Amino acid sequence: MRVVVLLCLLCVSANGQYDWDGPGRVAPDSGSNDGNACNVDQASCGCCLMLQEMNRLKTYFDTTLTDLEEDFRKTNQSLSTLKAKRASFTAALYTGDNFRCFGPFATNSVIVYKNVFLNLGAAYSTETGLFTVPFSGVYSLAVTSYSDSGSPGFTLAICSSLQVNGKTVAAAKDFNTNDKEDSTTIVVALQLTAGDKVSVSLAKGCFLCDDNSHYNTFSAFLLHTTE
Ligand SMILES: *[C@@H]1O[C@H](CO)[C@@H](O)[C@H](O)[C@H]1NC(C)=O
Repeated sequence: MRVVVLLCLLCVSANGQYDWDGPGRVAPDSGSNDGNACNVDQASCGCCLMLQEMNRLKTYFDTTLTDLEEDFRKTNQSLSTLKAKRASFTAALYTGDNFRCFGPFATNSVIVYKNVFLNLGAAYSTETGLFTVPFSGVYSLAVTSYSDSGSPGFTLAICSSLQVNGKTVAAAKDFNTNDKEDSTTIVVALQLTAGDKVSVSLAKGCFLCDDNSHYNTFSAFLLHTTE
């Protein structure tokens, strides 16, 4: 048996076809060698059958590896795309500690949230208060608002609305003289298109108040892209 195996190895090394040559894999032409070997030495026939089987397995593993490499390449690409397309932000109305109010104004005004907690992708502007949608996709958007009338009996006026391209998507309203303070929340998931402008509008005559407790926040985060 040892002799047979040795013969066999000689046959292999002389032929040079059976090196495991890693990724450039070309499946060997299985069986092409068997005939020769058997002609030269009948004793090595069994061995060449084994080689044939090895060839078959090598081809099988080569194919499997190629498929796995392709899957890996695609997965890695998806992951890179996912990492490159990050978009989320949260901003609160004011920086600083002093309690003060935004509004009331004579016209509807975009609320400019100044205190940025997070602005991944820098799509939110603290100059304009606009979130410019960086990638088409499904976004979660949230607005919390708070107002304080100052004293009981005075008008409390929260009238904020979440807008996309200037159109109201959802609004919150609390306008009365019964409460001194009140809060509202808007949360929606929306399909948005790259370039859309998302903002929060304060209706004329209304006002929001805040300090370092950050009662007023505006947030958006990308759930998944649709590009
Ligand atoms: C995954 O993809 C990134 C970006 O295309 C690339 O830089 C990196 O080398 C890839 N990783 C592997 C292991 O191929």
